[in-house]
Amino acid sequence: MASAARNGGAATALMVTVAVLALAATGNAQLQHGFYKGKCNGADVEAVVQSIVKARFARENPIAAYLLRMQFHECVINGCDGGLLIDGPGTEKTAAPNLSVKGYDVIADIKAELERRCPGVVSCADIQILAARDAVALAGGAAYSVRTGRRDRRRSSASDVKLPAPEYTAQQTTAYYGRLGLSAFDTVLLLGAHTVGVTHCSVIKPRLYSYGGKAGATDPTMDPSYASVYKKYVCPNVASSDSNVVFLDDQWSALKVDNHYYRNLQLRRGVLACDQNLYNDGSTRWIVDLLANNTGLFTSLFPQALIKLSEVNVLTGTQGEIRKVCNKFN
Ligand code: HEM
Repeated sequence: MASAARNGGAATALMVTVAVLALAATGNAQLQHGFYKGKCNGADVEAVVQSIVKARFARENPIAAYLLRMQFHECVINGCDGGLLIDGPGTEKTAAPNLSVKGYDVIADIKAELERRCPGVVSCADIQILAARDAVALAGGAAYSVRTGRRDRRRSSASDVKLPAPEYTAQQTTAYYGRLGLSAFDTVLLLGAHTVGVTHCSVIKPRLYSYGGKAGATDPTMDPSYASVYKKYVCPNVASSDSNVVFLDDQWSALKVDNHYYRNLQLRRGVLACDQNLYNDGSTRWIVDLLANNTGLFTSLFPQALIKLSEVNVLTGTQGEIRKVCNKFN
């Protein structure tokens, strides 16, 4: 028994090592730690970002979820380039899946403060990544260091926005992130972002009432007791319930970055089908199990996946521009 436990421990250690090595791929060589040091008239750029995020979090802690989701919707479309922030007809922001993205005002507040201190220096793309980083730590995740030096792209088009769908299979989800250079392990870590925040009944009703396109069918991979609570109390089958809020983790853990999301998947309590499918599929289940069964592992590895995401297809050097305000090109 003891030796089986020891072997189990060794196997876990090996899997963790493999996973960490897989995460260690390098991103854009021109990004640097502390890129803004000495460039903002004596101000500490990262401290300015952190103080504004912290003040907002104190008033409104769902801001952590908003900023985390913003990083995802920003970085997977043409890279982390501030494209999501642009206002106007036909921009990324106007694409259907982006209509429920929030947190733009915090980015604008940070930008205004930094422009006051050192005009034309700090990109909106970097502000998004720094703000999401600070949000993770404020919500109970690890503090981590990110490289900066991103520039803002002079392009933002709704037609570029191709985001994964909530009913994606594990294969579809890992293939989507694979195209961005992220591994299956990174993918399972990234969806752990659903440890915070909410969705709406309109998104999960197909799982409850018309699974597989069949009227009346419920997703059999959802814990039946949870399905019946959703049906009865949270998302009754009437149109007026569409905008009701559903916690992506559960309401006790929905504001906290922790591994509870993975434990829910083991219990078939994933809220979105794409979450639960990570457990239903053997190719990703072992990763869910690893993160669910090792307290603290998700907290320590999540930053590495976020860092990888934050370095997808970035502009650096003299590419793009440093916007004066984040919602308009110069
Ligand atoms: C297959 C990939 C993914 C899909 C299909 C997906 C889908 C969704 C959906 C449908 C919602 C709820 C939207 C609403 O009802 O308003 C949501 C919320 C959220 N997503 Fe994802 N997501 C994915 C990956 C990610 C990633 C990679 C991150 C961040 C790293 C992320 C962070 C969040 C957060 C924090 C929320 C809660 C937002 C809030 O409370 O306002 N998601 N996601």
